[in-house]
Amino acid sequence: MNILVTGGAGFIGSHTCVELLNAGEEVVVLDNLSNSSEKSLERVKEITGKELKFYKGDILDRDILGKIFAENKIDACIHFAGLKAVGESVQKPWEYYQNNISGTLTLVDVMRQNGCKNIIFSSSATVYGNPAEIPITENCPKGTCTNPYGWTKSMLEQILSDMQKADNEWNVILLRYFNPIGAHKSGHIGENPNGIPNNLMPYITQVAIGKLERLGVFGNDYDTPDGTGVRDYIHVVDLADGHVKALKKIRENAGLCIYNLGTGCGYSVLDIVKNFEEATGVKIPYDIKPRRAGDIATCYSDATKAKEELGWTAKYGIKEMCEDSWRWQSNNPNGYDD
Ligand code: NAD
Ligand code: WQD
Repeated sequence: MNILVTGGAGFIGSHTCVELLNAGEEVVVLDNLSNSSEKSLERVKEITGKELKFYKGDILDRDILGKIFAENKIDACIHFAGLKAVGESVQKPWEYYQNNISGTLTLVDVMRQNGCKNIIFSSSATVYGNPAEIPITENCPKGTCTNPYGWTKSMLEQILSDMQKADNEWNVILLRYFNPIGAHKSGHIGENPNGIPNNLMPYITQVAIGKLERLGVFGNDYDTPDGTGVRDYIHVVDLADGHVKALKKIRENAGLCIYNLGTGCGYSVLDIVKNFEEATGVKIPYDIKPRRAGDIATCYSDATKAKEELGWTAKYGIKEMCEDSWRWQSNNPNGYDD
């Protein structure tokens, strides 16, 4: 298949490009590089020994989308492009709704004008809000999001589902990611956050490399085994493979499908610190801080549906997630600027 990968230069996108190329798919990337570097795509080519086509541009720009569809016969779109910083979305809600929602509306409009009605969408466990059940199955009702970023995911799920309901030529695959960490085994591509990281693993790796002094652990009075927040961390290469497996549902003309992509295991913040220290031999000093606004105590998946219907299951455990995050960070202390 010829796949348009929006946001393909980013963290999850670049890893997915590797897995798509390795699986023999053709890849066309559209990315405005607002949160990424074109170097990631050079490295994707080095890792795979295969070519991909890159268009630098915006999903809000109908002209570049039209050009891509005119120059390539696109069979399906894997849509990663979006802004994703939770805290920033509270400060800049208009920018998040404009970029993520208007951007996706523009993209799907140009897709249907060009007869391409197959989309795999990057959703998030954040749509469950404070989940009604643990482990979280896909039948768990969607909840109240605590920030505009989360609402963009929840609303886009609704928009894409409604479009599919109205026109059953659409195949819409909604993938709800849990907490992606890790990096490609080569250590050549990985997560490259701007400024001080918001997410736990990049914060830990930056403490490990000496860029940041100490980790702040946001709360140790949750109703969890050690009082710190529990999450379902998933290796980004497993997550990427989930997208390749999801193409099966497009090939089967399956209509609307929703899958959790997680491991089904929950680890606390202190579990992650301990596993990181054991896997890398590097000590992570930390302080207990107040809870972070909007955080929930526990979030982990029931990953049975993706296993049964896609034949997908996460292969990598927490040790490899820590080792691979660290290999990427220690080989590239300044990310793609090295
Ligand atoms: P990322 O920021 O590394 O990748 C997103 C890419 O999209 C970047 O390369 C950015 O330059 C590009 N982009 C943003 N707006 C664009 C636009 N208007 N036009 C073209 N390109 C644009 O983020 P990621 O972690 O790889 O996330 C990929 C997707 O998965 C996002 O939609 C994100 O919301 C979703 N997601 C991420 C996580 C996570 O924890 N990383 C969890 C759940 C869902
Ligand atoms: C994990 C745990 C923190 C940083 C976010 C988004 C979610 C999804 C994935 C996109 C929590 C604790 C963190 C730190 C800490 N993204 N923590 N110190 O909040 O589960 O999910 O990323 O869709 O929408 O909300 O991930 O990595 O920020 O936090 O103690 O410096 O680590 O409190 O318990 P989160 P995270």
